[in-house]
Amino acid sequence: MDTEEKIVSMPRIGDKAPSFTAVTTQGTIHFPEDYEGRWVILFSHPADFTPVCTTEFMTFATMEDEFKALNCDLVGLSVDGLYSHIAWLRTIKEKIVFRDMKNVEVNFPLIEDITMEVSRLYGMIQPGESSTKAVRAVFFVDPAGKIRAMIYYPLSTGRNFHELKRVLKSLQAVDKHNIATPADWEPGEEVIVPPAGSCGTAKERMDGNDEDIRCVDWFFCLKKLQEEEAGAMV
Ligand code: BEZ
Repeated sequence: MDTEEKIVSMPRIGDKAPSFTAVTTQGTIHFPEDYEGRWVILFSHPADFTPVCTTEFMTFATMEDEFKALNCDLVGLSVDGLYSHIAWLRTIKEKIVFRDMKNVEVNFPLIEDITMEVSRLYGMIQPGESSTKAVRAVFFVDPAGKIRAMIYYPLSTGRNFHELKRVLKSLQAVDKHNIATPADWEPGEEVIVPPAGSCGTAKERMDGNDEDIRCVDWFFCLKKLQEEEAGAMV
């Protein structure tokens, strides 16, 4: 593999998450093996001590318990070194107030990646945007270590963490109930059943007497998850 190919190589949805060992603010991690049996979101940010990244870390750290309740761990990365990470996280805790957040402690691991080994492995270095900083990449890795979704944002645009949580909940509902989720879906709303071609024809469903299912057309059926199924999702 030549250098240019290495820079642009990136995993795809459905691939096994590429393995690596890395030093982090919480000690050494073996990814994704250490997270087997749990969901994990691996995300990159361009640089420590930058304002957009600071707002993102404060937001993600404040929401960490909500992700933990969904059986999901968080792992951050930038191409800065460990001492920069430690100093930046200390500054966040001691000095930064943003919206209603202050004294925010970041307890999830932040990978040091000065060599860019991990960021290249995951296609986080996108030279058209920056060849010295990682873009804002987000990888959703399932409990079996498979990449299930990826989202990339440019350096300029801070992420929407409610959307990251919504995507995680959708993936978990898809796995649990063999359904798909419509545009802007939120837990408690109708889901699409079953994904086209995966279980009987829509005509059979339309003609059937399953009272839970509402067919809008031959290709388009919806249902509400049972109260306890929907309620089980945080
Ligand atoms: C920021 O996080 O503020 C930032 C980082 C890199 C480029 C632009 C903004």
